[in-house]
Amino acid sequence: MCGIVGYIGKREIKSFLIEGLKELEYRGYDSAGIAIIENESMHVFKAVGKIKNLEEKAKDFKTKEFGIGIGHTRWATHGKPTELNAHPHLGEFSYVVHNGIIENYKELKKELENKGYKFISQTDTETIVHLFEENFKHKKDPFKAFKDTISKLKGAYAILLISKASPNTIFFAKNGSPLIIGKNSKNEIFFASSDAPLIGYADEVSYLDDGVFGYADKEKIKAFKDSQEINLEFKPLTMEKEFAQKGGFRFFMEKEIYEQSRVVSETIMGRAIDGKIVFEELEKNFFEGIENIKICACGTSYHAGLSSSYLFERISKIPTSVEIASEFRYKKPLLNKNTLFIVISQSGETADTLEALKMAKNAGLKTLAICNVDNSSIVRIADKTILTRAGIEKGVASTKAFATQMMVLWMLSLYLAQIKGFDISKEIDVLLKVPKVLIVENSLHEKIKRLSKRYLHGHGFFYIGRDIFYPLALEGALKLKEISYLHAEGYPAGEMKHGPIALADPELFTIALMPKNLLYDKIKSNVEELSARDSTILAISPIEFEIADDFIKIKEQNHYMLEYFEMMLIIQLLAMEIAIRLGNDVDMPRNLAKSVTVE
Ligand code: G6P
Repeated sequence: MCGIVGYIGKREIKSFLIEGLKELEYRGYDSAGIAIIENESMHVFKAVGKIKNLEEKAKDFKTKEFGIGIGHTRWATHGKPTELNAHPHLGEFSYVVHNGIIENYKELKKELENKGYKFISQTDTETIVHLFEENFKHKKDPFKAFKDTISKLKGAYAILLISKASPNTIFFAKNGSPLIIGKNSKNEIFFASSDAPLIGYADEVSYLDDGVFGYADKEKIKAFKDSQEINLEFKPLTMEKEFAQKGGFRFFMEKEIYEQSRVVSETIMGRAIDGKIVFEELEKNFFEGIENIKICACGTSYHAGLSSSYLFERISKIPTSVEIASEFRYKKPLLNKNTLFIVISQSGETADTLEALKMAKNAGLKTLAICNVDNSSIVRIADKTILTRAGIEKGVASTKAFATQMMVLWMLSLYLAQIKGFDISKEIDVLLKVPKVLIVENSLHEKIKRLSKRYLHGHGFFYIGRDIFYPLALEGALKLKEISYLHAEGYPAGEMKHGPIALADPELFTIALMPKNLLYDKIKSNVEELSARDSTILAISPIEFEIADDFIKIKEQNHYMLEYFEMMLIIQLLAMEIAIRLGNDVDMPRNLAKSVTVE
């Protein structure tokens, strides 16, 4: 995800901004930029790739006096990682940096273009700076112009804007994307999207709430919410950088699990509008002539693919097959041009998936990548890409990437159903509830922490589920294997009696995924069979289950996909808590790599 820094004061501003951006590198980015106003003159530097490229471009520039500056690392979501798309974005006399997604940027852009504004980037962000300047023309007051601008924006944002119209001021706004203001006794003011760049500079910080906007200059910080002025609450700043990068969580994996609610909102943003699914990245005729789908992926991405095959068949009524990329490559597959070939990859660099994609392309198939990293090898080769918008994922065990892949795939299945003229409005209503389901409640996490102590031994785990909960069971078992090093398998619940049930005894742990809205009675009987053979059962369900040894109750929902996402959260937390108790490095498990670029 993108990162933001800002500064007001007498320090050498370029160095502060660049060092600050380096502290945000862990969030992932593909371009970076800074803009500074000193003595009413504006200076801007942008570069694609690493921050050292930006440093090189700005090497001969230094500030000498009081000034203000803003900086940004960009993780591409609208438009390729190019210098023109890098922030800060320029109007005629103002610059803006922004994290998040402006959902209604297209309408705003059209209005502004009609008024004669020229856009030079493909980003949603550029709209903000032109809108500000348009408002300034009428209001003549920069803060009023900024306030009007913010009131027009829909979506998620953390914004810093500077303008020659008020050369000592930074305007700020926060909604849905993090933004922090820091200050110290030397009258310096700092902005950042996480603590890390502020450590060693600010004495105290205020974590802005959603809906807060305002401005700061060398004398004051003024903040508002719902047009009322508010007092910001400042707290002393923690001094540990690594702790700050992890946002106070013990592991990146934990932070990423907690981020799922927010990143899934970003995945949806601008794509579910007025009861319709919209994928700007796909032309309408892209699916013409497509009669079936083949999906190829590895690891967790394969599990997302397998899960989605149930949705493509059930919702879009398109026959769908799924293959592990390393298997697909060498089986001399028969490929037909009426097949849409979908690859799924967090990194976009997985060697087997990449090769499978090349094979499909060479065979003349239409190809579509579901990927988290723009400009990655897979994105460059696929005909079309839908970006998942999870932001960088640091934990080797994939969590938020999986959640966003599932959301994109579900939306894609709805999109295809929509093309066929099916009514999908009810499904969209459900889909919009997912971010809420993904909020980690303290009571749930505490319960899983407590339960985890009972699952540190045994001769194996069986995660079982039916239908789409079967691939989720595979994913649960994979999570546990990856970080706890315990043996775990995912299995279709109905298949246990054809062999694996022979293993059942009290030391065999069954993790049963028992949704109320899909085949409850079927899975219930399967679990009863295991219980009768003395397997220890941990049931995850909204319906109390008497014979379970342990029980995690999920919320009552009226759609199995909401149960799917809540159970996903639970199996991730369970694997993590077991691994932590076993003393393992959850973020860097032994023998595994985050991006597997070899066969
Ligand atoms: C590695 C990672 C897994 C990931 C798999 C596929 O094995 O450790 O977490 O699921 O690669 O990676 P991709 O980037 O293609 O999704």
